[in-house]
Amino acid sequence: MSLFYSSTQGFANVADYREAARRRLAKIAFDYLDGGAEDGHTLARNRAAFTDVHFAPRAMVDVSHVSPAAQLFGYASAAPMVVGPTGLNGMFWPKADETLARAAAARGVPFALSSASTSLLEDVRAAAPDGELWMQLYVQKDRRIAECIMRRASEAGYTTLLVTVDTPVHGRRDHDIHNNYRLPLPITPKLILDLLRHPHWALQMARQGTPQLVNLARSLGEAPDLQRQAAALARQMDLSLAWSDIAWLRKHWNGPLLVKGILTVDDARLAQQHGADGIVLSNHGGRQLEGAHAPLDVLPAVADAVGDALHVYLDSGVRRGADVVKAVALGARGVLLGRAPLYGLAARGDAGVAHVLSLLFDEIVTTMTLLGSPGIDTLPERISGARPGTAAATGKPNVTVIPKLVQS
Ligand SMILES: Cc1cc2nc3c(=O)[nH]c(=O)nc-3n(C[C@H](O)[C@H](O)[C@H](O)COP(=O)(O)O)c2cc1C
Repeated sequence: MSLFYSSTQGFANVADYREAARRRLAKIAFDYLDGGAEDGHTLARNRAAFTDVHFAPRAMVDVSHVSPAAQLFGYASAAPMVVGPTGLNGMFWPKADETLARAAAARGVPFALSSASTSLLEDVRAAAPDGELWMQLYVQKDRRIAECIMRRASEAGYTTLLVTVDTPVHGRRDHDIHNNYRLPLPITPKLILDLLRHPHWALQMARQGTPQLVNLARSLGEAPDLQRQAAALARQMDLSLAWSDIAWLRKHWNGPLLVKGILTVDDARLAQQHGADGIVLSNHGGRQLEGAHAPLDVLPAVADAVGDALHVYLDSGVRRGADVVKAVALGARGVLLGRAPLYGLAARGDAGVAHVLSLLFDEIVTTMTLLGSPGIDTLPERISGARPGTAAATGKPNVTVIPKLVQS
């Protein structure tokens, strides 16, 4: 018992892991992980949108067996959550992508690898041979790169493709400008001071060497040189990507295809018309378009419009199990986790990711139990007042979630 407490002591929630990550990482790395675009209003709204949703729990429902198990494209997931795609994870821990994939597999939830990963997708598969792996794609001007990544991912048994469409250019992230963040990190007096203040992280980075965008490099045929890889990634983004390109993706990908970065009913309908299997409502965790809607604010209208035809997922701002429950209650099949598992990774490596996932899982179960919802199919569909933007417009809580009574 004491061993258990010593390993997770002091970590009651994701916010505790965020604080530990802040202490351990150099400021330049933590800001990259944690920050949002420009003034951070969208980043803040992502959290506030969850706070504005309230539960109306039902009493006297048999909750002796509660399970958040969910079918995610035919995969029997332990919970309606996916460890989402994040690039440059090697900044936070060595072999970070393998660590995230292993932890997700152990928890029984999918892991989505970024095409800007710092481990080869084949190595991630080897680290999690039984894991449910999804592949995220940035489409670049030279379409052969995307085609190569899709072929490699398919051969390695990745089941589902996420095409990210909210990043034609990088959002303006003021903290990166203040920190003079670019790759590889330029050695300045400020950086040296930052490293001296975070010696554990600095030593770990020195031992592992600068993380490389190896996946991209392999598909580009580039030598491992981070500066060139990062420049190529930015320079080569295909700004002409359009809905008609879903047909091209379909030619190269047989499995489920999700479009990540949708925020309107109109685009959700277009995704459906062009044959996508699903969408991820996302503002990239508030890192791209400052002033964009929080995905949770638009979820009810989008789920109403396309929820029967498309798998609707959501990310941006999920930090608690109750957030997962709220998203599912309002019409999402599941959520993607962005920063939450990264805080665990940056704070404590394998143990930190595993603990973050188990904290979220336990919080989901507790919330469902208190809500009187033994399974996710019993989660609420009776919602009053949920209209896109209204919570944002009034600033008042306006969404009430009432779980369906369970049929015995
Ligand atoms: C450090 C970091 C790197 C990211 N890299 C990618 C990426 O390579 N591809 C992608 O589609 N999304 C990327 N995202 C966005 C996430 O997939 C997700 O949309 C977002 O983090 C969700 O918000 P949350 O962090 O508030 O949970 C990144 C997010 C973070 C925090």
